[in-house]
Amino acid sequence: MNLSENITGVQHLGIPVVNLKEAVAWYEGNLGFKKFHEKIVMNPYKIEVAFLQLGDLVLELFQPSGSELAEVAERKDGILDHYAIDVPDLEWCVNDAVDKGLKFHASTGSGITHYEHLGKKGVKGANFVGPNQEVVEFCHDDSVDYGSKTGLQGWAHLAVKVKSLKDSMAFYEKLGFHKTGGGYLDTPEGRIEIAFVYQKGFTLELIQMVGAGLEELKTRGAGHIDHIALDVCDIEEAFYEAKKIGLQSLDYLVKELPFFQFGVKFFTVVGPDGEKVEFNQKKCLTFSRI
Ligand SMILES: [Fe+2]
Ligand SMILES: [Fe+2]
Repeated sequence: MNLSENITGVQHLGIPVVNLKEAVAWYEGNLGFKKFHEKIVMNPYKIEVAFLQLGDLVLELFQPSGSELAEVAERKDGILDHYAIDVPDLEWCVNDAVDKGLKFHASTGSGITHYEHLGKKGVKGANFVGPNQEVVEFCHDDSVDYGSKTGLQGWAHLAVKVKSLKDSMAFYEKLGFHKTGGGYLDTPEGRIEIAFVYQKGFTLELIQMVGAGLEELKTRGAGHIDHIALDVCDIEEAFYEAKKIGLQSLDYLVKELPFFQFGVKFFTVVGPDGEKVEFNQKKCLTFSRI
């Protein structure tokens, strides 16, 4: 089974936090996420983890300890630039968030921004600052018929800032993503080309930087958003396949952690700009025949 068939969808977005309790309270109180699992694990040092859900969007908030906690506190914006929540009634939700005291991120300092050359009919969005400086976009696609839906829905996309769309498309095509749309943003320093790539219900927004933004991107590493995890049905085979097609793995072996009912097995590779992409299989009970 090749890697793209092995991937069954998106599992979670990993966000490191300095205070787990505060971060969970922020997401539950302001955006309506619900915590459905929490655990303290050793990997190798103590990490407190909580999983939260909003529609099909799952966040893994994790608070490390010791020097890793100090490292998290100093993190800056990363290659995984922002994540976006699908919002049918954008104006209402943005006003509600502002009433709750949420602050706009500098990238959309004056609120709702219209990207007229994105998607089929344009996209509107407003970026907010999360409890650990992660950028959370409320996103409304003008070509989508949302019906009578209201409120924050779940995944819209995860945005990755890249040096080369060509290299990134080649990488994500290996994981079974294909282009579903795109567009551009004109800036004084040149045109930022954007591609949306999609695989099993999950969209990545690849943003090819130019000028000073491109230079700044070269200084970015793992930031406020740490990694994206994709579900696979057979982790050992995914590990073998990833090696076979030359993906760079951060792990020598498939690792395990005692999350959810029976634990998870996972490993992480890096994309062309250094972004971390985790492959994760939730373990389940299997009965062997006697
Ligand atoms: Fe993770
Ligand atoms: Fe976005």
